[in-house]
Amino acid sequence: MPPTLRDATAADAAACAAIYAPYVTDTAITFETEPPGADAFTERIAAAYEYLVLEDGDGLLGYAYATPFHARAAYRWACEVSIYVERGRKRTGAGRALYTELLDRVTRRGFASAIALITVPNDPSIGLHRAFGFEDAGLLRRVGYKLGAWHDVAYLQRALADPGDPPAEPR
Ligand SMILES: CC(C)(COP(=O)(O)OP(=O)(O)OC[C@H]1O[C@@H](n2cnc3c(N)ncnc32)[C@H](O)[C@@H]1OP(=O)(O)O)[C@@H](O)C(=O)NCCC(=O)NCCS
Repeated sequence: MPPTLRDATAADAAACAAIYAPYVTDTAITFETEPPGADAFTERIAAAYEYLVLEDGDGLLGYAYATPFHARAAYRWACEVSIYVERGRKRTGAGRALYTELLDRVTRRGFASAIALITVPNDPSIGLHRAFGFEDAGLLRRVGYKLGAWHDVAYLQRALADPGDPPAEPR
């Protein structure tokens, strides 16, 4: 069965949690230190602007989502995006398939920019974001401590829709 993209539902929460858990426990890619369970993912899926999963006959290959970048009102044309692919299935095109659809959707909804926060170094994530037109937008130095080391976080940003001035509300 070729991979198919679809909206995540609560039924995907456990599989998403399983994909994410080793990145939490073994890496500083995410600054969470305790793997969230299925209940937390159920809430995250419901709260996101967009939450996509890619699956084939063997289960979920990965997920990608867009959430508010900041709660304060004037930020509402910016969304934060993130993506996780199952560790054993990286570099098979899953990330590209998920981001192609995710960025298309948030553009169509009228968001002006997508922002990614990336613990560096992370060549796969930097490579993926650059492949989708994200540009450097800043570096926070030694902003997180995890697994016995301080870590820097890069901000990458990509322009999406032009909502005008004054801007139309994103949907
Ligand atoms: C980053 C990640 C989502 C990429 O997903 P993926 O399915 O492996 O990526 P794809 O196979 O679709 O590759 C798409 C493009 O990303 C870039 N890329 C992917 N892996 C890369 C690597 N190891 N080094 C450099 N660039 C890479 C390339 O531009 C690639 O295009 P190409 O294959 O035509 O050269 C995946 O590596 C992952 O889940 N990493 C761990 C979690 C993570 O870092 N998430 C991002 C948090 S900010």
